[in-house]
Amino acid sequence: MLRFVCAFALTLAAMALFSAAPESSAAGYNSSVPENDVEPVEQSMHEFMEYVFQPAYLRLKQSMAAAPADNKGWKAIKADSLTLAESCNLLFSRAPEEGRADWNAHAKASREKGAALYAAGVKKDFAAAGTAWKAMLESCNTCHRQFENGKHILQP
Ligand code: HEC
Repeated sequence: MLRFVCAFALTLAAMALFSAAPESSAAGYNSSVPENDVEPVEQSMHEFMEYVFQPAYLRLKQSMAAAPADNKGWKAIKADSLTLAESCNLLFSRAPEEGRADWNAHAKASREKGAALYAAGVKKDFAAAGTAWKAMLESCNTCHRQFENGKHILQP
């Protein structure tokens, strides 16, 4: 009986390992995760950047053009910086096979700079927000330079 239980447990462990093994999508970005876990809705990196990152970036560019006059302006900065920072967490599972460590380092840097922008928004500190905004875009661009051959260089 004990042997049967052990064998069963081993089979379960092997199945868990097997189902957790990463698979690559056609574009080479890894977007496969176990069931009941974070799961990409859009497999394409292009669509993900175009519909999640780009609109938040474009709105922030407007919100950051001048110090917000009211709470609505600060709310816009907080909303879009948090969207971008949290979305950077979704980049880790999309790392390409080649250059994974660099990719993850860029995702982490972008998330941290995005978090600094959000924190400045919470404090309503426009000077700190300006510094964090430029630093965040520099991190976004560092990834674009390495993985997109310098395309999509974003300006503050
Ligand atoms: C870890 C890498 C990485 C990071 C970090 C990253 N991006 Fe991207 N981004 C990409 C890749 C790859 C593409 C090109 C996708 C494609 O077209 O296949 C891209 C494309 C874009 C585009 C062009 C979308 C289009 O429709 O042409 C925008 C805008 C963009 N990113 C915004 C951002 C912003 C804003 C940040 C920082 C908050 C950011 N990205 C951080 C990898 C990254």
